[in-house]
Amino acid sequence: MSTAKKVLFILESNKEVYTSGEEMAVQCGVSRNAVWKAIKELRGRGYLIEAASNKGYRLSCDNDIISGEGIKACLPAGGKSPGEILVFDSLTSTSDKAKELAIKGAPHGTVVVAASQTLGRGRKDHSFFSPEGGLYMSIVLRPEYLHSTDSGELISFTGKAVISAISELTGIEPYVDGINDLYVDGKKVCGILLESGSEFDSGTLQWIVAGIGINFDSDINSFPKDVKERASSLFPRGEATVSKNAMIAGVIGKILNCQPNS
Ligand code: BTN
Repeated sequence: MSTAKKVLFILESNKEVYTSGEEMAVQCGVSRNAVWKAIKELRGRGYLIEAASNKGYRLSCDNDIISGEGIKACLPAGGKSPGEILVFDSLTSTSDKAKELAIKGAPHGTVVVAASQTLGRGRKDHSFFSPEGGLYMSIVLRPEYLHSTDSGELISFTGKAVISAISELTGIEPYVDGINDLYVDGKKVCGILLESGSEFDSGTLQWIVAGIGINFDSDINSFPKDVKERASSLFPRGEATVSKNAMIAGVIGKILNCQPNS
């Protein structure tokens, strides 16, 4: 792992407090100069890092950049860890990427996240409008780690997992409408798409990809007219009370930790 990633994980795990350059150097197993270079690199990538003499560094609360390190820092303590977390600024579809990885053998719990999607998909080949401000994630699930592979049970389980993550982190209580759309006050705030792949000869289920799209602090006014009428966002743009990383970690944690075998 690069020093910048290690430093970012330390900063994301200690948001309220300063960590000295010396402490970070020890934790990362590098020199203080290498820590300083990593801080510079992170600032160049847009992270607002406050520095105070004799105290060290901390992330400003204004940061809300999605990253694997930020997500890992927010995962529930003592819970099962996901596999690799791959984060992209933009993808055609996180589920397409996750399916590609699943077919190549990616393990249970591999997560793909994107800050936006250019070809987000919903059920029945509908498009899922996916601009910045939403959270788009897909999780590779392997049948041997699941409670049940019954589609009805999995659909219901995934919906409940997302609802409980949202309600625990925000106090907002979405409800299921349709097959697995989540609504607040009559407007859709989240879509869930489960896809699977089986071995043709035996029909044995090989993988499931759970794709979840949440309108987090999306600018609903920028949505196409027909979508805008039916959609809402958990928060108005820029007014979220929880970080994007925390929300993604909450959803992943609920999905992976409620499976007894994982
Ligand atoms: C629906 O509304 O019918 C389901 C929408 C599912 C959208 C999510 S966003 C992350 C993942 N990637 C996709 O292309 N689709 C799912």
